[in-house]
Amino acid sequence: MESSLPSTQILDSGESAEGKNEAKNYNEVMSTLPKVKSLNGYDYYLYQGFWYAPFFLEGLMSVQEHFNPQSTDIFVASFPKTGTTWLKALTFAILTRSRLSGSTTSALLSKLPHDCVPFLEYDLAQNPSNRDLAIPLVSTHVPYSCLPKSIISASCKIIYICRDAKDAFVSLWYFLAKQRRSENVEPLPLEKSFELFCNGIANYGPYWDHLLGYWRASLEFPEKILFLTYEEMKKDTAAHVKKLAEFMGCSFTLEEEEGGEVQMIISLCSFEKLSNLEVNKNGKHRPDTSIAIQNSIYFRKGEIGDWANHLTPEMGARLDDIMDQKLKGSGLKLPR
Ligand code: A3P
Repeated sequence: MESSLPSTQILDSGESAEGKNEAKNYNEVMSTLPKVKSLNGYDYYLYQGFWYAPFFLEGLMSVQEHFNPQSTDIFVASFPKTGTTWLKALTFAILTRSRLSGSTTSALLSKLPHDCVPFLEYDLAQNPSNRDLAIPLVSTHVPYSCLPKSIISASCKIIYICRDAKDAFVSLWYFLAKQRRSENVEPLPLEKSFELFCNGIANYGPYWDHLLGYWRASLEFPEKILFLTYEEMKKDTAAHVKKLAEFMGCSFTLEEEEGGEVQMIISLCSFEKLSNLEVNKNGKHRPDTSIAIQNSIYFRKGEIGDWANHLTPEMGARLDDIMDQKLKGSGLKLPR
């Protein structure tokens, strides 16, 4: 997940008069929206059924109005902390493999995966040309029902990843806590954050509605939307890498498979490999901006079930019950 800032910081960033007017309009819209204190201490706004940090809401409103995708664009979509970094790395490595001739030259060795795939509601909201058009990958945390209509009407492909709610929550709490501590601010206690999360209050939340939007769309348009889980991808990464390649229209040839290309991509994108790279240990994401953040914050444990080390069994059961109720009748059951 990206950092969140009060909206006034965007207004002060010295854009054109037109840009300032637009930001002012977005602020006016925001002033009419319900808001609540969030997991990281900022206000979150309820917009089109979902909660947003102001910073991302402005980006979303902007791309809803202005964004024009290429019809060949493929969107990597997720709720924050559900496996975005891994999925970005894998899709990027798969799509760019032919021009790289092996992992040793991959941009993933010198750049954080988030710097290889532009983020819709920040990078492309700031400037639509913040991308290499030859690599048709864009990432987003925007819920399906809030995506710019242009993405739906261009029939772009979407790959969605999600994860057990308990692990997603714990991952999110640690991410926000590290971010807060780096700003010398005490994070919200885990129990208080948990309460908010169970009430659906998180950036891009409620979590269950985020899942359900993409899940239902994937049932309706299976050739356009691929729905994945972190847990299943961990269990059989090779099958998922092949599935991703097929879905993106660049299946592995027999020759590539026999030459170990699938395994090379898995190793390159593994938690162990990426988290130990110099760039991901010591580099910064968007270093020259007010939302600079340590790359290392995107890599914590990369394990399934770590929630049990941080939540009580009662807290786990409570979130499981909420998810069961919310997903009831949808046909979606997340691995636990
Ligand atoms: P944990 O906090 O449980 O360790 P996102 O990428 O959506 O922000 O999600 C972050 C989660 O994915 C973190 O989970 C992080 O450790 C894990 N992660 C990051 N890179 C990964 C990789 N290459 N393989 C598997 N998990 C990864």
